Amino acid sequence: MANTILVGAQWGDEGKGKIIDVLTEQAEIVVRTAGGNNAGHTVYVGPTKYVLHLIPSGILRPGKVCVIGNGVVIDPVGVVKELDGLEKLGVPVSPANLQISETAHVVFPWHRELDGQREVRKGKQKIGTTKRGIGPTYGDKAARVGLRMIDLINARRFPERLRERLEENNEVLKALGAQALDYDSLLAEYTAAADRLRPFVRNTVLFLHEATRRCANVLFEGAQGTFLDIDHGTYPYVTSSSTTAGGACTGSGVPPNRMDRVVGVLKAYTTRVGEGPLPTENAEISDLLHGMGREFGATTGRARRCGWFDSVATRHAAMVNGIDELAVTNVDGLDSLRTIKVCTAYRLDGALIQYVPADSEALARCEPVYQEFPGWETPTEKITRWEDLPVNCRHYLLTLAQLTGARLTIVSVGPAREQTMFL
Ligand code: GDP
Ligand code: IMO
Ligand code: MG
Repeated sequence: MANTILVGAQWGDEGKGKIIDVLTEQAEIVVRTAGGNNAGHTVYVGPTKYVLHLIPSGILRPGKVCVIGNGVVIDPVGVVKELDGLEKLGVPVSPANLQISETAHVVFPWHRELDGQREVRKGKQKIGTTKRGIGPTYGDKAARVGLRMIDLINARRFPERLRERLEENNEVLKALGAQALDYDSLLAEYTAAADRLRPFVRNTVLFLHEATRRCANVLFEGAQGTFLDIDHGTYPYVTSSSTTAGGACTGSGVPPNRMDRVVGVLKAYTTRVGEGPLPTENAEISDLLHGMGREFGATTGRARRCGWFDSVATRHAAMVNGIDELAVTNVDGLDSLRTIKVCTAYRLDGALIQYVPADSEALARCEPVYQEFPGWETPTEKITRWEDLPVNCRHYLLTLAQLTGARLTIVSVGPAREQTMFL
């Protein structure tokens, strides 16, 4: 396997965790490069379900090295909980299989509090964040007042830096009518997490350069999705990081000319959790999927909004990410349908357009123009070979790939590793 960037090509939750787990078999190293514990990546190994938030999904395969890159924002208390949770499930995690970048920024409780306060103040305009403090942490990073893992693990420097940051943020919290945070308990909590994480913290840029020089196969695990990207998403209804392919370079320190291919993960339909425009949102498909017990968020448990496949959006995703190959997941979700719709254009204020407008208000006004496809009305979950999929299903999937403008190489018909076929 070549150095591979894997991105979500829709609004997140495309099934990246499952596809990462499958592709990790051929990789040596798996790197997370953006986002924080707003992500929830679900992987099944046999009957056991794992939901990874900060630790790369590659951790479930013995012998692989996982890296949390510099582009990620880390809640140290959250990551310790995740380590403990994995160990309880029998997954050993040590510095031999997990490295954390020394320059990744740290999430503090005031970031979470500010995240929540801003949402309340936005009222109807709220983003619907995961309330994990992601926006305020990246905000501090850009404003050059953030603390990094290298500060957290420095027992001499950290108490003072924490005090400075807390003083400023407590003023802000009080002005917003929120409770100020207590220095001593925060110091104790973060010092305990720092002691636990210190052995994992490394110069991951040097490690990854060494690895790519000797041609190790590196897999870059995207989080969130293209339309949640801070630059290319449906701003302001986005997350605060670069979730598109370029973020894999800046978020790891591995340069673009070391990257070999980009895999885009898509659902065979569309989902979004949180607010913001979703042109193909549709009650029929929402009810169908929720009725099957599917499409509830892996991080917050919220019901995901569902809609038909939107090829205007996925074509845009192929463009900004440079997607070479497509992995389409959740094909089995459509098994029962007689007719399936695919959006191939938008009607905006009377005009037919085939691109995603930059203005979220304009995107919200877009009415999808649909092409209809006959369903296959056959269960697919037990099918393991492309040739054995119903002809209508193969036709539907190849059309999605053609409309998106990339090669279909992976099809997933269930959450398990075995429910995956390669073309
Ligand atoms: P991620 O954030 O992109 O990793 O995706 P999530 O884990 O948040 O959500 C994807 C959901 O779809 C999870 O519950 C997966 O177990 C599930 N999943 C992935 N691929 C398939 C598939 O092909 N069929 C079914 N039924 N479920 C799938
Ligand atoms: P994975 O990696 C789906 C959404 C939130 C909200 C917006 C901003 O599992 O695909 P934030 O907490 O980041 O400030 O929230 O982004 N969001 C996700 N939606 N999957 C995710 O991650 C998401 N991470 C953030 O719901 O709309
Ligand atoms: Mg998810």
